[in-house]
Amino acid sequence: MGSSEIRSQSGAGQATVAAGINIALVKYWGKAPGTDNRPSVGSLSLTLDAPGTETTVRFDAALPADTFVLDGLPAPVAPVTKVLDDVRRLAGETRRAAVTSRNTVPTAAGLASSASGFAALGLAAWHAAGLGDPGTPLDRRLVELVRRGSGSAPRSLLPGFARIDVETAGVEGVPAPPEFDVSLVIALCAVGPKAVKSRDGMAASAETSPYYPAWVSSHPADLAAGEAAVRAGDFGALGEVMEHSTLKMHACMLATRPPLRYWTPGTLAALDALGALHALGRVFTTMDAGPHVKALCRRADEAVVAETLRPVAREVLIARPGDGARLVEPKAAR
Ligand code: DP6
Repeated sequence: MGSSEIRSQSGAGQATVAAGINIALVKYWGKAPGTDNRPSVGSLSLTLDAPGTETTVRFDAALPADTFVLDGLPAPVAPVTKVLDDVRRLAGETRRAAVTSRNTVPTAAGLASSASGFAALGLAAWHAAGLGDPGTPLDRRLVELVRRGSGSAPRSLLPGFARIDVETAGVEGVPAPPEFDVSLVIALCAVGPKAVKSRDGMAASAETSPYYPAWVSSHPADLAAGEAAVRAGDFGALGEVMEHSTLKMHACMLATRPPLRYWTPGTLAALDALGALHALGRVFTTMDAGPHVKALCRRADEAVVAETLRPVAREVLIARPGDGARLVEPKAAR
């Protein structure tokens, strides 16, 4: 019996991981040349306590192929198999896997369900294959296989504020002072999946948007300012650079051919509703590749921000900084 067979039989075989979504404060939009899904810019994010994804991976010698069930329905398995293949290679695992996943995020609605999804999948497969505790700092191989799934996903491996470095493509936590108690109030401004997936949109922006080079070259200053603001617990400075990064990204998107316009009338209604609180510096907003508005405020203001958004939004969620991806089952393995 070869060593890989011994390894595959001794692996835990099954693991369940929960991961929260993360929202970028300084945005990622664009990929470096190559096939490894490395970003062309860094990013700074906040991992949230909810919503998110819970995923179970079960390696099973009786399975002829990988299977993937998302929210109770069979779903395309190819992206899942890519992650599983990476883990199988690392672990010498030969079995196929049954993967089941449950999202509390509106799937593909621009609310970054791919980030919590690939973080949960990658870490669940890692544990199910018996690769053990990924450690602190995180095992680089885990970060890379999760990133190949989705560029924003490594940030959901970590709790709270996290930063992806453009040079190394590694992810690390950014410590905030303990009294820095921010909330992110999410206004869902439309229903249904987004028109253009991030991956396709990024490729189109890089090819056709005249603002793309300026986006990339002006990005490091925003990332440095965002990180400094988190470390200093400077709410106003963080909110200001978050909005600047957001609006630059959307300018780059709008100048893409054909244009990427992710906002809807509901997006603008939410921004307008927050106008008075925004003028007071009590709330700042960010939008991703979708119509929803994410409002950053201090915890003391989360209720008033949510109340302000409720009349104009389809749904309002209040989220706070959350844990990174974590093992739910088996409990003893970590
Ligand atoms: C606008 O991580 O979804 O939300 O790497 O192609 O999977 P892929 O893209 P993805 O892009 C997220 C883009 C964004 C900004 C951000 O989260 O930083």
